[in-house]
Amino acid sequence: MRGKKKGYVRAGLAAAFFLLLSGGCGMQFDVEERENENAAEDELIVVGVSQLGSESVWRTANTASIQETFTRENGYLLIFENARQKQENQIKALRSFISQQVDYIVFSPIEESGWDVVLEEAKEAEIPVIVMDREVEVSDPSLYVTRVGSDFAGEGENAGVWLRNYLEEQGRAEEEINIIVLKGTEGATSTIGRTEGFEKIARQHDNWTILEQAGADYTTTKAKEEMKKILSEHQDIDVLVSQNDDMTFGALEVLEEEGFTTGVDGDVIVISFDAVRSALELVASGEINVDIECNPEQGLYIENVIQMLENGATIDKNYYVPEKIFTQENVGRYINDRSY
Ligand code: AHR
Repeated sequence: MRGKKKGYVRAGLAAAFFLLLSGGCGMQFDVEERENENAAEDELIVVGVSQLGSESVWRTANTASIQETFTRENGYLLIFENARQKQENQIKALRSFISQQVDYIVFSPIEESGWDVVLEEAKEAEIPVIVMDREVEVSDPSLYVTRVGSDFAGEGENAGVWLRNYLEEQGRAEEEINIIVLKGTEGATSTIGRTEGFEKIARQHDNWTILEQAGADYTTTKAKEEMKKILSEHQDIDVLVSQNDDMTFGALEVLEEEGFTTGVDGDVIVISFDAVRSALELVASGEINVDIECNPEQGLYIENVIQMLENGATIDKNYYVPEKIFTQENVGRYINDRSY
């Protein structure tokens, strides 16, 4: 897959040549060292990564996983760009990776649509693109090599199935159940998948009513705002489905302020997604009933794909990362190993 001349390597060699022309003996020694460094640099696989932002604890862990994987020691030169929640910044980053002739582009698309043109440009430049975390909706599937991320619809279904089983255990299977949903970023695969997956199970239960689905962008601040609005209109709430832990933290704060108790012995059953450490602590203490894991540690899986491409192996179009479901019963076994 590699073999293109990289702009910055050419620049390094030109600088070394200039030093060779202008130096004496000591200088020549420096130049040899520099040439060796440049040769080693030339061996590195250059990966341009466009992260969509840093809206959540999950996202920070996802970034850390990339930065810990694509190191010089591991044979990579990482060019990392944070798009700060703007698709236009991601498109700019992708274009800059193309002009730098990186070996691979990796990006986590903030939303599914709007990528065709820039991915055409990457294809023309013969740079393989790996989509991380969320999916892209493109007219031509050959515009990217593969996608590594979660089964978001599966996560949503798991939330619904967990709720069904829990209500049965509690002897509440036939009760009228009022549900509110805090949704993540509009147009993002994680939002679309979790919503569709949960709704699929909800449709099988005539006694479940989704009172409201409010968009809160995966952030604590927006979740607080939305939760206040929801509580000003609805007081009879049995279940909160919050599509990530950051939003759950905000919602729990507001529910508590308004006098609601939550979780295992509370008024409101809480279903959260991500399973970051501080949320798992709330699962352990019983304030969150269940946390459906979304695994941010995708660096090694992406590296594996790159190594397969380097070796000419056949690549599938989609790789799901492994994920668990945490409740008070099992969380104790995992919580101490959680690094994020
Ligand atoms: O796309 C994954 C989602 O994005 C995570 O659940 C959320 O926390 C993040 O910001």
